[in-house]
Amino acid sequence: MSNIKIGVITVSDRASAGIYEDISGKAIIETLNEYLNTQWIPEYRLVPDEMDKISDAIVELCDKFNCNLIVTTGGTGPTKRDITPEATERVCHKIMHGFGEEMRRASLKTVPTAILSRQLACIRESKNSSLIINLPGKPKAIRECLDAVFPAVPYCIDLIGGYRLETNEMIIKAFRPKNS
Ligand code: MTE
Repeated sequence: MSNIKIGVITVSDRASAGIYEDISGKAIIETLNEYLNTQWIPEYRLVPDEMDKISDAIVELCDKFNCNLIVTTGGTGPTKRDITPEATERVCHKIMHGFGEEMRRASLKTVPTAILSRQLACIRESKNSSLIINLPGKPKAIRECLDAVFPAVPYCIDLIGGYRLETNEMIIKAFRPKNS
C-alpha cells in the first residue's frame, strides 16, 4: 500500500452536520486521482467552519499523518462563518502568494464573483513540512483552481523536502526545472 498521503479537508457547517452530502471533498479526490500517476491515499476530514477544528485538522494531517500536501475546500468567502484562510495562516509559516493570485486570475475568466474568494496557499514547517492549498467550496471551482496551480505543486513539494509526485501528463503536466 502507498505511504503517500494527501490531506483533503472539507470545511462546511452543513455537510459536517449531515444536512447535505460532501461532494466537494469527493471532487478533490477525483481530480487528484486523474492527475496523479503516483499511488496515493487520501486522509479525509470533514469539519465545520470553526477556527480550532480547521487548524487542528491541518496540524494533525501535517504532523501526525505526514501529508506533504493538504487541500481544503470551502470557507474562503466573505461571510461571517468563512474563516478557512485565517485558520490556515494560524498554523503556517509562509504564505505562497502566487497560488491565490493565480487561482483568482484563472477563475475570474469564468466568473466575476471569483474575486470574493480569499483562498491562499501556505507552507507549514515542522519535522514534516506541508503545502496547504485553500480552494472554494464548489466542485467546478475546485477543478478550475487546481488546473491553474497544480503544475507547480510537485516541485513545491520537492523544495520542502516532501514526497515526489508524478502526474499523468495527458491530464496535467508538472513543471520541474531542468536537473531537479
Ligand atoms: N471560483 C471559481 N472558479 N468558481 C466559482 O464559482 N465562486 C466564488 C468564489 N470563487 C467561484 C469561485 C464565490 S461566489 C465565493 S463566495 C467564493 O469563491 C468563496 O467560496 P466558498 O465560501 O465556498 O469558499
